[in-house]
Amino acid sequence: MDYLTITQSPILSGEVAISGAKNAALPLLALTLLSKEDVRISNLPNVADVKTLSKLLEHLGAHIEMLDSHTLNINCANIIHTKALYDIVRKMRASILVLGPLLARFRKCQVSLPGGCAIGARPVDLHLKAMEKMGAHIHIEGGYIIANAPNGLQGADILFDKISVTGSENVIMAAALAKGKTRIINAAKEPEVVQLCEILTHNGIEIEGIGSNEISIYGSDGELPVFKPFSVIPDRIEAGTYLCAGAITNSRITLRDTDSTHLQAVLEKLEEIGFSFEITESSITILPAQKRNAFEIITTEYPGFPTDMQAQFMALATQCEGVSVIEERLFENRFMHVSELQRLGADIKLSGNIAKVSGVKPLIGANVMATDLRASSALVLAALIAKGSTDIHRIYHLDRGYEDLESKLKRLGVNLTRQGE
Ligand code: UD1
Repeated sequence: MDYLTITQSPILSGEVAISGAKNAALPLLALTLLSKEDVRISNLPNVADVKTLSKLLEHLGAHIEMLDSHTLNINCANIIHTKALYDIVRKMRASILVLGPLLARFRKCQVSLPGGCAIGARPVDLHLKAMEKMGAHIHIEGGYIIANAPNGLQGADILFDKISVTGSENVIMAAALAKGKTRIINAAKEPEVVQLCEILTHNGIEIEGIGSNEISIYGSDGELPVFKPFSVIPDRIEAGTYLCAGAITNSRITLRDTDSTHLQAVLEKLEEIGFSFEITESSITILPAQKRNAFEIITTEYPGFPTDMQAQFMALATQCEGVSVIEERLFENRFMHVSELQRLGADIKLSGNIAKVSGVKPLIGANVMATDLRASSALVLAALIAKGSTDIHRIYHLDRGYEDLESKLKRLGVNLTRQGE
């Protein structure tokens, strides 16, 4: 297993290019199961999660040709079976995204239950209930979701009692081939969900209410779509993480190939702390703050403050004057970075799902352990300002979602090395 050694890097400078969004790429890869024709996807991030889902699709019989490191052609004409195996699904919970498309096209599938996850229970009950409402028979056997819809899926009203991103995406993909209209009430509004809907509408599936909490999808009754080439939207969480790298070191850095409209909650919070920005259509420059003020965050669904940025802002809070209050509303147990940040000297008090961070606290390098994807990026941020050097272990978590993290950070002036344990 590799670990990263980061030496204190007080001032960063320069530009960083933002990759395609992992959380958009995953449903878009699953979407290709709906077509028999070639689909070309560009701006795919070169990260482990995308490779895992590609592997799962290949295992099902998809033919994938990499045209360059960020573009592929995928053909799902010859799917040989519809079982998503435990060995692949256990690596990535988002593998559940093949459930809707497989069931819609082949009327049956078996998907390993994603199982427990480091950031809480994260069940898939909403996905299953929705498929049942659309006419599927589902039972669990041997750790697998066994789903059958011998007469095909029927449009239905799906009311989510919790907003689920991948749950909404699964229903949208299933509904695209179903018979009649499917209405999702309390749908997720994340830009990744919007892109999925837009690609479907550009390719003949009628969808109303895109980007709102009520989406209606008019299914094609089994007619398979042909997809024109498309490009994955920029990763708003990767962008937010680099903005935090600028913020925690109080440096001026520029993010290229990004979309500020997807980052409103993050930019507003950084403004509240004391930062300002120069923004163009595809770039954001963060400018140093005179003074960094403590802040309050409550994580919520989009367009609210993203849970995927909570850990990074906690690292930043250690350098803000006063007590910052961070409340995690989406996932229980998403505070595993707290004990690791404390190892670096952070003053954090936890009470249930609320963390209080007292700043300004000088951090000192230590050995720390990455526990999940975004928690790991918080440790990288803290290491930038920790005195001396910090060894971050188990960085395979970072490889799941951050393309080229080392070279991007090096280009900004960070002194780091990756070594084997
Ligand atoms: C997606 C993102 C993840 C992000 C999360 C919340 C992808 C691939 N991943 O995950 O990065 O952190 O949204 O923005 O896009 N829930 C249930 N039952 C279900 C499904 C979800 O109770 O069947 C609960 C979850 O435990 C959680 C909440 O609903 O409390 C939201 O989860 P959800 O939006 O489904 O997260 P993911 O789609 O897995």
